[in-house]
Amino acid sequence: MTAQQPTTFLTGATGFLGHFILRDLLADGRRVVVLLRPPLDDSVARLGGMMTPLGVDLVSELGLGRVVAVEGELGRELPASSWGRTDEILSCAASLQLFSNGNGEPFASNVQGIAGLLAWAGAHGVERFHAVSTAYVCGMNSGLIMERLHEPQPRFQTDYERSKWEAEALLSGWAARTGAALTIYRPSFVVGESETGYTTQFGGFYQLARLVSMLARQNGHGAGPGANGNGNGYADASDTYVPLRIPLDPDGRHNVVPVDFVSRAIALAVGQPAMHGRVYHLTDPNPPDNDFWKQCFERVFHLHGGYFVDPKTVNGARSEAEAMLWEQIDVLVPRLRHTPHFDQSHARALLAAGGMVFPELTAARVHRLLTFAAECGWGKRRPVRGGGARVSAVAGRPK
Ligand SMILES: NC(=O)c1ccc[n+]([C@@H]2O[C@H](COP(=O)([O-])OP(=O)(O)OC[C@H]3O[C@@H](n4cnc5c(N)ncnc54)[C@H](OP(=O)(O)O)[C@@H]3O)[C@@H](O)[C@H]2O)c1
Repeated sequence: MTAQQPTTFLTGATGFLGHFILRDLLADGRRVVVLLRPPLDDSVARLGGMMTPLGVDLVSELGLGRVVAVEGELGRELPASSWGRTDEILSCAASLQLFSNGNGEPFASNVQGIAGLLAWAGAHGVERFHAVSTAYVCGMNSGLIMERLHEPQPRFQTDYERSKWEAEALLSGWAARTGAALTIYRPSFVVGESETGYTTQFGGFYQLARLVSMLARQNGHGAGPGANGNGNGYADASDTYVPLRIPLDPDGRHNVVPVDFVSRAIALAVGQPAMHGRVYHLTDPNPPDNDFWKQCFERVFHLHGGYFVDPKTVNGARSEAEAMLWEQIDVLVPRLRHTPHFDQSHARALLAAGGMVFPELTAARVHRLLTFAAECGWGKRRPVRGGGARVSAVAGRPK
C-alpha cells in the first residue's frame, strides 16, 4: 500500500525546519524517504527523539513504511532507490556556515550537494524538485525583491548567501534544460513555533536575544524572564537600567517567520501541482520594526535604557555593554541593517489556496519565543514542547 502513496525524497529531516516538514508531509498522507547521514542508526535515533515532541512516533512510521530511512550524505554518493518510485525531491538540507573556513562548506553541501541531487533526479526520472533556499539570496539588492532568480548575481555579505544563490542558479538551469518543475521556497529568518515558541535551533535571532538577557543578568536582573513577578512580562520599576547606544535604524524591519508556518506552506505546495514551478517568499508580509523588537526584548528581560543611534556615529569609545552588543550586531549585521522588501505575489496565492494566514508576530508571540528559548537555557537544556502558557490571541504589537 505504501509504495503507491505519493513519495517525497526529503533531505535535512534532522534539521530544525526539516523535522517540521517531515511532520507536515506525513500529516498530508505522503510517504517520506529521509536521507540521513551515517551512521544511519544514530541518525534514526536522533530523528526519533526530535519527532516525539511533534507528536510523531517515528518507530511506528518506519514500521508502517510511511517513513523510509536511507543513509547518505550530500556531496557524496547517494543511495540507489530501493523503495520504488519517487514523486519529488524536497531538498531542505544545507550547511548554515556563514563563511568558508577551509572545510569546503557552505559550498560542498549547498552547491555540490544540489548538483548530486540533480544527477540523482536524472538517474531516477524525478521531474519535480522542491528546494528550500533563503530570502537572502537577494544579497545586497534593495527595493522590491521579486519571486524569481536574481540576475545578475547580487553582491553578498556571506558565503552562505552566495552558496544558496549558486544552488538556485544550478537548479534553474536544470529545470530550463529538462522541463522539470522546480519550486523554490525562500524563508527569511526561521524562529520557533508560532503558538508555543518551541524551537530546537538557537542561532541568529536567538543569539541577539541571549545577549540581551546576559546584559540584564550582568547588570543586576538575575532571574531572567518573568522575574519581576508581575506576570505579564511588561516593564516595571524593578527593571534594570543599562544605558547603551543601539547602532540601528529604529524603523528598519527585521523579517522572521515561525517554523510551523514555513513547514505548513511547503507541505501545502508539495501537495498541489498547480502551485509548482514558482518561487515563494515565505516571509512576514508586515515585518515589525527594530523599535518593536527592542521593546519586546526590554519587556521580556526587564531592561531599559537602550536608544537607537546612527551606526556611523559609533566608532569611538564604548561601554562594556555596548561592546558586547555591537559585536553581536556585527555578526547579524547583514540582515539587521539591510532589510529588503519581499514581493509575495506567489506566496499570497499559495496561502489563499490553502486557507492559510501568516501568524502575525504580536508582542505576545515574541514573548513566547523569547521565554521558551531562555527557559531551556538557549539550547543547553532539552526543549519541552507544549509546556507553559500559550499566547493570548488578543495581544497586539507595542506601538
Ligand atoms: N534557519 C533559518 O533561519 C533559515 C532561514 C532561511 C532558510 N533556511 C534554509 O532552510 C533549510 C533548513 O535549515 P535549518 O535551519 O533547518 O538547518 P539545520 O537545523 O542546520 O539543519 C540542517 C540539516 O541539513 C542536514 N545536512 C547538512 N549538511 C548535509 C550534508 N552534507 N548531507 C546530508 N545532510 C546534511 C543536517 O543533517 P545533520 O542533522 O546530520 O547535521 C540537518 O538535517 C536550509 O536549506 C536553510 O538554508 C533556514
